[in-house]
Amino acid sequence: MSVKDRLIIALDVDTVTEAEKLVAMLQDHVGVFKIGMQLFNSEGPDVVKRIHSLGGRVFLDLKLHDIPNTVGKAGAVLTRMKVFMYNVHTAGGSEMMQKAVEFTAAESAKSGEPKPLVIGVTVLTSINQKILNDEMGVSGTVADQVVRWARLAQSSGLNGVVASPKEISAIRAACGPDFVIITPGVRPAWAAVNDQKRVMTPAEAVKAGASYLVVGRPITGAADPVEAAKRIVDEMEEGLNC
Ligand code: C5P
Repeated sequence: MSVKDRLIIALDVDTVTEAEKLVAMLQDHVGVFKIGMQLFNSEGPDVVKRIHSLGGRVFLDLKLHDIPNTVGKAGAVLTRMKVFMYNVHTAGGSEMMQKAVEFTAAESAKSGEPKPLVIGVTVLTSINQKILNDEMGVSGTVADQVVRWARLAQSSGLNGVVASPKEISAIRAACGPDFVIITPGVRPAWAAVNDQKRVMTPAEAVKAGASYLVVGRPITGAADPVEAAKRIVDEMEEGLNC
């Protein structure tokens, strides 16, 4: 996998027209395009086909969370849609994650299509210690809970997790070198931080052990998105080489 393949662009837009413009521009310079609830709910499943037809790989960020059978069946549908990766909430428990993995593998074997990576969402970065303890009734620190759920994701057969920059090292240490860690909250020194609270540079994030970086506004909002993507890939390369 080349370094650019490890860069995921967040297509946080409302319309397929805006998404296609970004994909056409960035396709040769990045690895994957992330479609989240905003674009998916606005344009429907066809948006995935449109991005595929431009040659882009898709991370479908719908954060599935329901009873095991329902999530399993949804995972089979996403496999038929030929996404490169999709995600589920680890809070749904091991049986739910196992069903997602099982239905994904079965659908892929049936269709002959490549198996999507199934990725877990652990503690959302909007949840702080107080919310975790007082509102959700979960004791311990956020970091402990993140590692606990990352281990559960791994033992349930998931390929990896989404993790904020500050969690990368602990998850890498707990789950080993082959576990996929996808990290948002990445900001090059030259870009605006926006509403991200705890950021790392692209070099720091890959050095800490991130497998993929998710970047949105520093690229999609740049005057020259291609140049911004190239700079970020260069910084990732530096991080890997030092
Ligand atoms: O524009 P920006 O680079 O901040 O976009 C980051 C992307 O990663 C957004 O799609 C955001 O929803 C997502 N994300 C995040 N923090 C998380 C999980 C996902 O920023 N903890």
